[in-house]
Amino acid sequence: MISVGIESTAHTLGVGVFKDKKMLANEKSAYKPKKQGIHPRLAADHHVKAFGAVLERALDAAGISLNEIDQVAYARGPGLGPCLKVGLAGASALAAKLKVPMVPVNHCAAHVEIGALYCRMRNPLILYVSGGNTQIVVREEKNYHVLGETLDIGIGNMVDVFARALGEEYAHGSIVERLAHGGKYIELPYTVKGMNMTFTGLLTDAKKRIGKHGREDLCFSLQETSFAMLTEACERALALTRKKEVLACGGVAQNKRLCEMLGLMAEEHRARFASAPSQFNADNGAMIAYTGLLVRRNAVNWKKADINPKWRLDEASL
Ligand code: FE2
Repeated sequence: MISVGIESTAHTLGVGVFKDKKMLANEKSAYKPKKQGIHPRLAADHHVKAFGAVLERALDAAGISLNEIDQVAYARGPGLGPCLKVGLAGASALAAKLKVPMVPVNHCAAHVEIGALYCRMRNPLILYVSGGNTQIVVREEKNYHVLGETLDIGIGNMVDVFARALGEEYAHGSIVERLAHGGKYIELPYTVKGMNMTFTGLLTDAKKRIGKHGREDLCFSLQETSFAMLTEACERALALTRKKEVLACGGVAQNKRLCEMLGLMAEEHRARFASAPSQFNADNGAMIAYTGLLVRRNAVNWKKADINPKWRLDEASL
């Protein structure tokens, strides 16, 4: 069974190919805005232009021809409407031409499932951290349950906004991670409410301190404070659920310091911690292709396929 997966929820247009549990290709092209956040229409324009070339590269890398494809999976949501529509249009055209089913996939579920596959985890406590999402999740049978989450903005978004306030051209969490090396700790607002957390107070305070403290100190303190908030909330969830595995996934799970803190916390509870290889924590088509195989029963005819920009993980099922 060969599944092609189309990812287009935000800045990345990705096409991946899975044959059963084996990845055959994972190609992408990313829209990189200078000095601003993602402009949905400009990102969508990028995806339209990139679609043909990325699809061709993925098929070449996989060593398959179009008529070997058994299904076209696509990210139905959550994400930016104009970007999701490009993925839907491309996937629909492909499915209609090949006369194969389309499989709608929840983007967050795809991060979780590809992480579980590569980290060899059966039933982990999941911390899903990305630009727009910050959630502590468990999966029971086929349903996802959110135990805790951000009450305002996603942690990735918070870090990107701070990097832009510092004047970085391509503001990104990796820049804050690099600047944080060698920084000293400054106390910043720390807000955890049970297993939920908020980030805007921390962001506002850190931004006000730009110019009064060193950039390294601010980046270090922003990371230490926000990651400690996540780790505390996860520890509470781990004590409650008594899981034996902790999985971090999503773009921010690429941060080494966050993984170190979560790893130490998990060790104290005799749980195994892991995060997926970087290519799957960044947005990618391979995770959509793989998860599309797991939820093949939800396949639809291309005429009935749609998008859902606000599709929460706990509204999806496996
Ligand atoms: Fe993502």
